Amino acid sequence: MSAIGRTRLLAADPPGIAEAASLLRAGKLVAFPTETVYGLGADARSPKAVAEVYRAKGRPSANPLIVHVADLQAAAEIARFGPMAMRLAEAFWPGPLTLVLPLLRQDILAPAVTAGLPSVGVRVPAGDVAQALLREAGCPVAAPSANPSGRVSPTEAAHVMDEETGLAGRIAAVLDGGPTTVGLESTILAPGDPRQPEASLRLLRPGGVPVEDIASVAGCALTLEAGSGGPSLEAPGMMVSHYAPRARLRLDAVAPEPGEAWLGFGADPPEAWRASLRASLSEAGDLSEAARRLFATLRRLDEALGAGAIIAVARVPEAQLGLAIKDRLQRAAAPRE
Ligand code: TXA
Ligand code: MG
Repeated sequence: MSAIGRTRLLAADPPGIAEAASLLRAGKLVAFPTETVYGLGADARSPKAVAEVYRAKGRPSANPLIVHVADLQAAAEIARFGPMAMRLAEAFWPGPLTLVLPLLRQDILAPAVTAGLPSVGVRVPAGDVAQALLREAGCPVAAPSANPSGRVSPTEAAHVMDEETGLAGRIAAVLDGGPTTVGLESTILAPGDPRQPEASLRLLRPGGVPVEDIASVAGCALTLEAGSGGPSLEAPGMMVSHYAPRARLRLDAVAPEPGEAWLGFGADPPEAWRASLRASLSEAGDLSEAARRLFATLRRLDEALGAGAIIAVARVPEAQLGLAIKDRLQRAAAPRE
């Protein structure tokens, strides 16, 4: 075990997981790996622990947290599942899907978790470490991505263990389960009309489950709320400028201009040789690989380049995981607020 400040790095073995679970039960903050990104976990029933999450991240209090549980049965003790929600949960859980559903009772969770909304975002993450931790903790775990608000989400324990760009010194521990497998946050869905929850679905954030897969299970209209730009009441965290690197991004680039860095996808153009720095989301043009590499690559380029540098980014197709990749790139490219 090592530590930075008062933050301990725990191995994701049975003793490490047991320690992480006992810290959570004691109201402490523990970052842990899910299949999407590292989450900053806290006991969702504890007002004090949840308040600490907002403080550690510097997160606006109007931006609610996703509640993580080990299985559908535990989720059904928190939120009301209609037939459509049940179908989606059975199809995609455990996995990178968050469902925004009516909260069963106000007294189940600390009120700050839902930022006072009558709905709650719930998710059953896949991945052995997340599953083992949730089972051992035995409580619902509120977990936003484990990055300071507005920064790139962490896909490795080292990203969280950074004092400047991570949360080291502000949380009790980080459970190190290695790099995450999906690499992008969960897809967030909400009923289109809470009075007719079976009639339509809204996509609040594209993510690890492609919308094409959701459409085939939902069997109803799916409106793409995400990507529309401004902060919405429904998913208050979806601000335009997010995942902010210091460098600027130029999207849908055919080739780097002189002086620009290059972030490729698929075969590189001949001009890529002249880039000031060069990386690829996936040389093979594979969207899963690109999703897995996206955040770590953005971090690496950003650390290597000075402020004011420009990263030309190759076009990524907007289908399957490409929709979520494009969404994160657009937020990273948006002018800073
Ligand atoms: O993959 C993920 O979802 C990761 C891992 C750690 O599980 N978590 C994550 O959390 O991305 P966060 O806090 O970075 O993003 C959660 C998003 C925010 O945009 C928030 O506004 C939205 O979910 N959200 C949470 N509860 C909601 C609710 N009741 N209604 C609408 N949006 C909600
Ligand atoms: Mg986040």
